[in-house]
Amino acid sequence: MLTAGGDSPGLNAAIRAVGKSAQRAHGMDVVGFHDGFLGLAQRRFVRLHSEDLSGILTRGGTILGTSRVKVNRMDLGDGQPQDMRTRIRAVVEDMELEAVICLGGDGTAKNALKLAEVGVPILTLPKTIDNDVAETDVTFGFDTALGIATEAIDRLHSTAHSHHRIMLVEVMGHKVGWLALGAGLAAGADVILIPEIPYDIETVAASIAGRKAGGSTFSIVAVAEGAISRQDAARREALRAEIDEESGDRKLELKRRLKDLGRTRVGGTANLASRLTELTGLESRVTILGHVQRGGTPSPVDRLLATHLGAAATDFVAAGIHGVLVAARDGEAEPIPLKKVAGRVKYVPLDHPWVSSTRDLGISLGA
Ligand code: F6P
Repeated sequence: MLTAGGDSPGLNAAIRAVGKSAQRAHGMDVVGFHDGFLGLAQRRFVRLHSEDLSGILTRGGTILGTSRVKVNRMDLGDGQPQDMRTRIRAVVEDMELEAVICLGGDGTAKNALKLAEVGVPILTLPKTIDNDVAETDVTFGFDTALGIATEAIDRLHSTAHSHHRIMLVEVMGHKVGWLALGAGLAAGADVILIPEIPYDIETVAASIAGRKAGGSTFSIVAVAEGAISRQDAARREALRAEIDEESGDRKLELKRRLKDLGRTRVGGTANLASRLTELTGLESRVTILGHVQRGGTPSPVDRLLATHLGAAATDFVAAGIHGVLVAARDGEAEPIPLKKVAGRVKYVPLDHPWVSSTRDLGISLGA
């Protein structure tokens, strides 16, 4: 097995479950590759014995280490990306591995699919605090991060109230709003901005001014790191349409501009704060929760999910099933073909109950 992409609470619980169930329920030997697909390509691994799997259930991070690499363009440190797929298949064949179980998110599913296509028997487990993996109800790591972000917003309330300020709190989540919406709703934020609903700054300012007029001199704004204004969303759509039409150097230039737009968007919470101060006359402060959301011990919910899916993964291997994501569906573990998962993002549906509850409670979504 290996762990890939950003680390996430529950990874060690999943490693433990995969390892113990493989050994105890199926009599298999288990190895762990260091640093994700990089270690797999470089044949860097450790035999995982029962004692290696003890005492890790509650630990954050991953005992195996992780990396963000692409199997078809892997930089081995010399700045010359190489296609490592054939090499990885040779490692798997040479070591006589029955299957490779990868604990990761969407990037991992993409890598796994590329390896499945060259004949590597491979499965993935859905891990990420972003909860954005397609075809699974939930990912492990999300519940823990939700708890951390919720507690942080809870704590911002008293200081916001004391100083009559707008407190903006930037929550992780990459291109989706699951964490910001969940934590914002759970902690009683007054405004929640998520990528799925491009915001209008005037609307946000008006809702804060409305609170002030009603006697509430502070506001808490939960901002997903991928939140985007209506104007930027329109620019993004126009660029995408142009990219589809163009080719060659012009296409590359437009793609670069699209990336730049993403850069100002992700993490642009400070600009948002100063605009809101201009528009409302209220002082503002920004808190960026960042990697704190990914650290520390996993919640019981994440431990249970990681344990369940990890054990199910070895059952699937024993049954000869691979080329799949081991998804959580209605409390069961289901094998879903990687083709249906890789490259797809699970956005917050606009008719999701959390969205309607937010609206019903009069919390502004900025639109
Ligand atoms: O995918 C998990 C995640 O924590 C995202 O929420 C965030 O955008 C990203 O990883 C941060 O990545 P890195 O750890 O490489 O800074």
